[in-house]
Amino acid sequence: MKNPVYLDYNATTPIDPEVAKEMIPFVETYFGNPSCSYLIGRQNKDAIEKARKQVAVLINCNPEEIIFTSGGTESNNHAIKGVAFTNFHKGKHIIASAIEHPAVIEVCEFLKLNGYDISYVKVDEFGQVNPADVEKAIRPDTIIISVMHANNEVGTIQPIKKIADIAKKNHIIFHTDAVQSAGKIKIDVQELGIDLLSVSGHKLYAPKGIGVLYIKKGIQISNLLHGAGQEKGRRPGTENIIGIVGLGKACEIASKNLSDNNKHMKEMRERLYQGLKKASNIDIKVNGHPENRLPNTLSISFEKVDSHTLASLIKNDVLISTGSACHSEIEDISPVLKAMNVDLMTAGSTVRISTGKYTTRKEIDFAVEVISKTVLKLSH
Ligand SMILES: Cc1ncc(COP(=O)(O)O)c(C=O)c1O
Repeated sequence: MKNPVYLDYNATTPIDPEVAKEMIPFVETYFGNPSCSYLIGRQNKDAIEKARKQVAVLINCNPEEIIFTSGGTESNNHAIKGVAFTNFHKGKHIIASAIEHPAVIEVCEFLKLNGYDISYVKVDEFGQVNPADVEKAIRPDTIIISVMHANNEVGTIQPIKKIADIAKKNHIIFHTDAVQSAGKIKIDVQELGIDLLSVSGHKLYAPKGIGVLYIKKGIQISNLLHGAGQEKGRRPGTENIIGIVGLGKACEIASKNLSDNNKHMKEMRERLYQGLKKASNIDIKVNGHPENRLPNTLSISFEKVDSHTLASLIKNDVLISTGSACHSEIEDISPVLKAMNVDLMTAGSTVRISTGKYTTRKEIDFAVEVISKTVLKLSH
């Protein structure tokens, strides 16, 4: 058994060896600037356009509607600030859900300091937004609605199509943060009616520091960065060719294996849950939607067990997360669980376990043994 067992795929994923193989020539050999017209420049330009097509297949859009960014945070910033700055003469009201990632919430809070008005739509006990609440929050000056596709902590999947329909009916731009859903569940931007969508490479077996913003044809948003003409002037800066090639390959693999991976991650998660339920012998509660949930995510509360103590005691054997791992140095009750009305005791005993395409049965069985033994110790 390779220790520790990694069960924190929502925090980040390892790079797929096939992705790494695709990137290596661009690390070792192809160094040309894609903006240069000589051969080694053009080769890299072609590689970028190939990657753009690979990403477009994953979310079913036109390659021209894809721009490469530095990751999910930049994509969310670009989408929301881009719409806000372009439309400030039309209105300054923004709607977001209460359980967005900080890469959306903090953008909204920044805009609030700069004269914009934000409405955070509540969620139910499963972490789901009611589309009717979104509709109620709309005002004549609403310019953008941003609701994440799937939540990073509890995995709840939002009724995106219904919310997008409401936005469309009211001529409001709709953005979704799909950082956690891309590569795990099907995304069809056309079917869902999405205007802007964010993806991050490191959640789908590509490297960190690369991402995508899908901008539907015809949607006007101002730049986040200003500079030269890369990405048709929409995202200046010499392209992260290595990351782009990796993300393209990762999207190609994700498209090909989507249903198999989905099934596998779910099977691993269920094996873990059933195992823990049987072995723990104490009350355990699952947070998030019972059905509309990412196939890999298990947010689970063990009665009378402090989640930080649990995660810390098992960290040499199994890696899991308390709260949301990308910013877990900030110790506080998770705003997501708070918004779901989870009581303080339960929130303090919640861990997030997330499986991935490399998770094995052996790993899960080992994790069940380690977690349940520690939970038993801590709860008595
Ligand atoms: C839902 C969600 N949005 C955005 C981000 C930020 O993405 P990145 O790390 O690529 O900036 C994360 C990272 O965990 C996330 O889970």
